[in-house]
Amino acid sequence: MGFTEVAATRRSVHQYSDDPIDRSTLDTIFETATLAPSGYNLQPWEFLVLRDDETKTALKEVASGQEHVVDADTAVVILGNTDPMAHAETVFDDWLAKEYIPNEDVRDTLLDNVEAMAGMSEAERRVWTTRSSALAAMTLMYAAWEHGVASCPMEGFDDDALVQTFDIPDGYEPVMIVTLGYPDEEASDIENERKGRRPIENVVHYESFDPSAETTLETPDIGG
Ligand SMILES: Cc1cc2nc3c(=O)[nH]c(=O)nc-3n(C[C@H](O)[C@H](O)[C@H](O)COP(=O)(O)O)c2cc1C
Repeated sequence: MGFTEVAATRRSVHQYSDDPIDRSTLDTIFETATLAPSGYNLQPWEFLVLRDDETKTALKEVASGQEHVVDADTAVVILGNTDPMAHAETVFDDWLAKEYIPNEDVRDTLLDNVEAMAGMSEAERRVWTTRSSALAAMTLMYAAWEHGVASCPMEGFDDDALVQTFDIPDGYEPVMIVTLGYPDEEASDIENERKGRRPIENVVHYESFDPSAETTLETPDIGG
């Protein structure tokens, strides 16, 4: 599938088959997800992968009882590290080694810049990590679908309960849950007409921003 077809045919899927995803397919999907861009390439994402019935059931309990968390072969909790410095030295050493930056002085300046970001408020850190980690989540879903593995992104969970249930250390934001699994062939999510989208005339604003008050929806007709 080309990219437009991947984007156009990806759906949030709630009904999954019992077919397991093999580990090498999962590894490929995660490897592709890590190609997502991130601020300063700091890659704040971590993926907590739940495949056992017991751990998926524990996740379902903090996710408003949403059944597809358990029905899907795999549930992934995307965690975002809220500390910009966590990987900064390693990342800038890589830039230096690859000659993206000319010398150690520039590396040290970059480290200072990121250290200054570390002075952000808790709320700002959460937004900071969510930006990059959400891109990794989206990349994960597109990568999965290229391999025929359907997904569903989820924000319907209790952050505090999730952190407590899975002993997530301080400094990690639970950004999103993503379920992964081969779709039930008769899944209505996939069989039904695609949900409408706000048309580009309403959401794309060239040069100045004048949001339309009205909401209209169209069924996109590309790539599918
Ligand atoms: C941030 C975010 C949170 C979502 N949370 C949930 C959720 O908790 N449960 C669920 O079943 N679907 C959830 N969805 C899926 C949306 O309902 C779905 O993306 C939307 O209806 C459009 O359908 P499509 O993805 O099939 O195009 C979420 C999607 C996003 C992007």
